[in-house]
Amino acid sequence: MSSALDALTLDRYPRSNTYDRQWIVDNLMGPHPLWSAEGLMGAMTLEPGMRVLDLGCGTALTSIFFAREYDVEVWATDLWVDPTENWQRIQDSGAADRVHPIQSDAHKLPFAHDFFDAIVSIGAFNYFGTGADYLAYVTQFLRPGGTLGVVAPGIRTAPVLTLPSYLESRWGPDLCTWLPPDWWHQLWQRTNLVAVQTADFLPNSWSDWLLWLKTCAEVDRGYKPDEQMLEADQGDLLGLTRLVAHLNERG
Ligand SMILES: C[S@@+](CC[C@H](N)C(=O)[O-])C[C@H]1O[C@@H](n2cnc3c(N)ncnc32)[C@H](O)[C@@H]1O
Repeated sequence: MSSALDALTLDRYPRSNTYDRQWIVDNLMGPHPLWSAEGLMGAMTLEPGMRVLDLGCGTALTSIFFAREYDVEVWATDLWVDPTENWQRIQDSGAADRVHPIQSDAHKLPFAHDFFDAIVSIGAFNYFGTGADYLAYVTQFLRPGGTLGVVAPGIRTAPVLTLPSYLESRWGPDLCTWLPPDWWHQLWQRTNLVAVQTADFLPNSWSDWLLWLKTCAEVDRGYKPDEQMLEADQGDLLGLTRLVAHLNERG
């Protein structure tokens, strides 16, 4: 039987296509989390058995995805979402042996230094990671040579002072954290802590984000302000920023 959610099956996301679309929509918190995770993995590698911090994991869908798809152990860490609810989702998905729910502020992480092989963050890093000192803080928990991978809402060019009307009407503190790949690249590279490997826009991210919002709207899970803004943008400025960096040896 066909449904509105059939539109969420796209050839470029073969791994995401194997997950229940209703489950994804029921637990949404932003752009399609599994598409973002799968898109991030187009630019980074996870090896089986790695320890991975999923920072700002929300409802832990991406944590479950990384654990199941790449056979890694994931610490699903988030501030707002109740870890008991995440634990239930993790158990229901059959990933209880590999995904650990943690409630923590990204600025007060309860982990050992050098513990993680990789840190990933989908749709969340812009909430807590824009400060000039944050990269130095968070990479303490990453082993030298480890990888940091981020996907977050972005605006293609340097922060603009004169906004197009469709951005001006939606503008606020949250949109101020939607920053371009080059902005993040400079912020990170100047620390001398990491080598930035990728700083780009996730391919197709504007159109996929709009498709996602339109499809969610058909089942009363949309967000009109963002749908209208993306529609008006036509892929000119908006999309998802993708960043991958490797931690240098400590000096
Ligand atoms: C838009 S949601 C994205 C959630 C999920 N990664 C996804 O893609 O569906 C942003 C998440 O960032 C988390 N977050 C915001 N500020 C945080 C902080 N200071 N520490 C940890 N998590 C934070 C929130 O709890 C929220 O779940």
